Amino acid sequence: MEKMCKNYVIAIDGEAGTGKSTLAKNIAKKYGIVYMDTGAMYRCVTLAMLNENIRLDNIDEISKLLDTIKIDMTNENGEDKFYLNGEDVSTKIREKQVNDYVSQVSHIPVVRERMVNLQRELAKGKKIVMEGRDIGTNVFPNAEVKIYLVASAEERAKRRFEQNKEKGIDIPYEEILKNVIFRDNNDKSSSVGTLKKAEDAFEIDTTKLTMEEEEKIVVEKIREKVDLDA
Ligand code: DC
Repeated sequence: MEKMCKNYVIAIDGEAGTGKSTLAKNIAKKYGIVYMDTGAMYRCVTLAMLNENIRLDNIDEISKLLDTIKIDMTNENGEDKFYLNGEDVSTKIREKQVNDYVSQVSHIPVVRERMVNLQRELAKGKKIVMEGRDIGTNVFPNAEVKIYLVASAEERAKRRFEQNKEKGIDIPYEEILKNVIFRDNNDKSSSVGTLKKAEDAFEIDTTKLTMEEEEKIVVEKIREKVDLDA
């Protein structure tokens, strides 16, 4: 197959805990392409709603908020930073309060519509690796490369448990596993359908793979479709 050396989108979708972020970041860094964490955008909207005390069912206020907020993403010395109306919120968007609401916020149709438009706008004219849930199905159904990552709930819970331990966060494994299963069901059964595998996506089960093995397989797959070195 002829390889393209123009701009392209590499869509990496999948459940939380499958290694999407690390993988997408590594690929972007190694091959000098743009990385976009679309989950962080939903997190910024969630934080903005919390800051303004806007309820999940107040669609008018949510629409007004979406008209006025400004979300910026930058990479500073290799670190991804997120700004909400000029304030660096990179840490705040990962905190518990945002974690607790982001899934529900991401299911609000007007929020999805705006975020998808923004993601398309930001990707224009770029070589980009975009990580999320609906990139290959909805945001860029014609993406040059589509990867869909899965892993067993037990393995993903174990990974989160270990990450937490490193950060000094003490949540029992059983509780994490319950939350992983709850979030999976929520993401997959949503009427706005966030998490779905595109028919033409390449699926990889990462349960038994190390990060290095996962990356090797994905890079090989990407190279079949686009010229990463161009
Ligand atoms: O990847 P993450 O955990 O940072 O994502 C935060 C939330 O946003 C998660 O509940 C799923 C949702 N999300 C989405 O609905 N669509 C995307 N493209 C990315 C994330």
